[in-house]
This record gives sequence, C-alpha cells and structure tokens, in this order.
Amino acid sequence: MLENLSAQAPDALLALIKLYGADTRPDKIDLGVGVYRTDEGATPVFRSIKGAERQLVEEQDSKSYLGPEGDTGFVDALKPYIFGKDEARGGSIEGMQTPGGTGAVRLALAVAQAAGVTRVLMGTPSWPNHAQILKDLGLELAGFNHATVEGKADLAALEEALAGAGAGDALLLHASCHNPTGVDYTMDQWERIAALAKDSGVLVIIDSAYQGLGQGMEEDAAGLRLMVDALDELLTCYSCDKNFGLYRDRVGALYIKANDDEVLERTFSNCNSLARASWSMPPDHGAAAVRHVLRDSDLTRQWQDEVDEMRTRMRSVRAKLAAADNRVPGLDLKQLENQNGLFAMLKLDKDQIERLRKDHGVYMAGSGRINIAGLTSGNVGKFIAALEDVTG
Ligand code: LMR
Repeated sequence: MLENLSAQAPDALLALIKLYGADTRPDKIDLGVGVYRTDEGATPVFRSIKGAERQLVEEQDSKSYLGPEGDTGFVDALKPYIFGKDEARGGSIEGMQTPGGTGAVRLALAVAQAAGVTRVLMGTPSWPNHAQILKDLGLELAGFNHATVEGKADLAALEEALAGAGAGDALLLHASCHNPTGVDYTMDQWERIAALAKDSGVLVIIDSAYQGLGQGMEEDAAGLRLMVDALDELLTCYSCDKNFGLYRDRVGALYIKANDDEVLERTFSNCNSLARASWSMPPDHGAAAVRHVLRDSDLTRQWQDEVDEMRTRMRSVRAKLAAADNRVPGLDLKQLENQNGLFAMLKLDKDQIERLRKDHGVYMAGSGRINIAGLTSGNVGKFIAALEDVTG
C-alpha cells in the first residue's frame, strides 16, 4: 500500500536549516527559520527557565498522566498575561495546553470544523503552516491581501473578504508581530475588525505566537483583548516558543472564549476529545517550567527582563536596517522601523534571493522573509552590502 504514496516536498523553511548547516563559509548568515538570536548569534535557554527547571527537578514528584488538557496550572498562570488581569474577561475563557502553538492552531481549526466551519478567511502571506494545516483538515482557504505595498495593514481587503462571509466561515488573524510581514493592525483597525466580525457572524481565531516581541507584553495583546471583549465567541492559539525560548519543548495553549457557560463547557469537551484522538496529551516539561516561572516573582521578573532584552535588540536591528534605506532604495527598508516582531518581508525576487545565498552565504525564505534576529552588530553591515550588490 505504501507504494501508492507520492513523495512530498520537505517544508521549505525546515529545508533551509539543512542547507544553511551544510554551508562551510564561516561568515554565512541565517535569516531563515524564526528563532530569536542574541547579538552573539546564540539561542540560549532563558535564565528564568533554567531557574524554573532547577526547581522542577527538586519538586516534581510524579510524571504520571495529566490528561488531554495538560498542565492546568500552566494554562491558568499564563491567562492574565494574555487576556489581562480583568477578572470579568477571564471568567468566560477556558484553556488547555497544546503541543506548541501549532498544536493550538490545529486544534482550533479542528474544533471550528466540528462546529460547522468549512472555509477560513486569512490574510496572505501568512505563516506557511497555516495553509498546510487547513489543507490537511480539508478546509477551504479564502485568502485576502494582508499588507499594502506601503507596508500597512490592508484593511480594505479584509473588509471586502468579510463582506461576503458569514456563519460557516472562520477568520484567522495574527495577534501581533505578523508572520511574515511584521505589519500589525492599529487599535482603530482592530475596532473596525471587531465590529465587522460581529456583524458577519464569522468565528474569529487569533494566533498569538510572539507576544512581547513587538511593542511590549501588554501592547502586543491589546488588539486581542479588544476582540475578546467585543465578540461572544473567539478562539486564541498561543505559543511560548519564542517568548520563553522553549521551541523544541513544544509549549502552547488554546483558549476558548464563549459568553454562554454551557457552550464553553461543550466546546472544551470537544477540544478535549479531539486532542485525545490526535496527541492524547501534550508534553509536560516546558509547560511545567513556564508555570514555575510565573509562580515565582523573582523568576517572573527575570523572564520579563529577558523578553524586554529581546525586543530592544530587535528594535535596534530594525533601526539599523531603516537607516540603510538610501543604500538600497528599492527595498523600502525605512518601513521596517514601524513594523513588529521577528520578521520582515524584503521586496526581493527569486534571483536576488538565490544570489544572496550563493554569492554571500545569506539564507532567507524564498518568499523574501527575513528573521530580524539573525542580524547582529557583527553581520548587519555585511548583509546591507550584500543587499546593495544583488539590487544594484
Ligand atoms: C517560523 O515561521 O519560522 C517559525 O514559526 C517556526 C516554524 O515552525 O515555522
């Protein structure tokens, strides 16, 4: 039977990691997959996580099963950071742990499908795995343009998409630090989206994978909180990969908001049984470490400092790129300063991206996306010179 399978292309982003690894040039630059790097080019385990792991080794007395909902202490401890400290808002939200943000997106879309969603509206470009998950579930993707050529959110395109949408549709949005464009909605735009989404009756799903890496922990959640307040129902997919540096530990959560308690419980029970049939239970270690960080005020403070450090560094890389705007006029680098998070899209064509790789050892996604955190004080000059070469 296995002979019937046709070969699948490897995920382009993950394939880039291998290509980069095989390049022997010492001054190669990795701007591919989205991991944070320090100015020394390292992706260290957070000091706060190390502290939490030490506590965990001492205190954990069992590794027995927890259930499909995972570590509920982790889910509850994270909740105020995402949704704010307003008890009223938190009261109508229930969450469960998932294997990474990807697990949360998968589960959100699966439960939406179980509830009758057949089509998902999504701004494009988006994180490529969003489309892959939709395809795998057999959900139709209705794409609309996410950003204008001027590097702002294309609200007109979203409005048009919502005008033809209704029950049976979901709207998948990025909370902040949009992947891959870095272009986020303003608060006025969030308000408009909330009103339109409410009128249309679509189910809103928000993917929050980079909280704290844009403007700040609170600022990056403001749009999401506005939507939670405005809508009766909403699904939030959360990742701790970047803001706790837990990539391979796969730490995520899905939160369900429903104003009706009975609907909330019923939705939760569906998520629970979908999770059981998919991964049974999420991996424990990373989520338990996050719980320890958030329950210990010293570790919490240390973690917040670490997130601030990351954000400050990325803002400074953005400023350096923006300052080089006049050296590569066609790329509009000045826009990068007004955008957020780990990623930006450069207006480069396939040949230029290939030349960057072959001639300069610069690795970036074929879409023109760069990981801002791959640039350091040591290599940003070389990168700008390489851009000058391929665009000149
Ligand atoms: C990325 O977009 O590079 C990250 O979210 C990592 C991934 O899983 O694709």
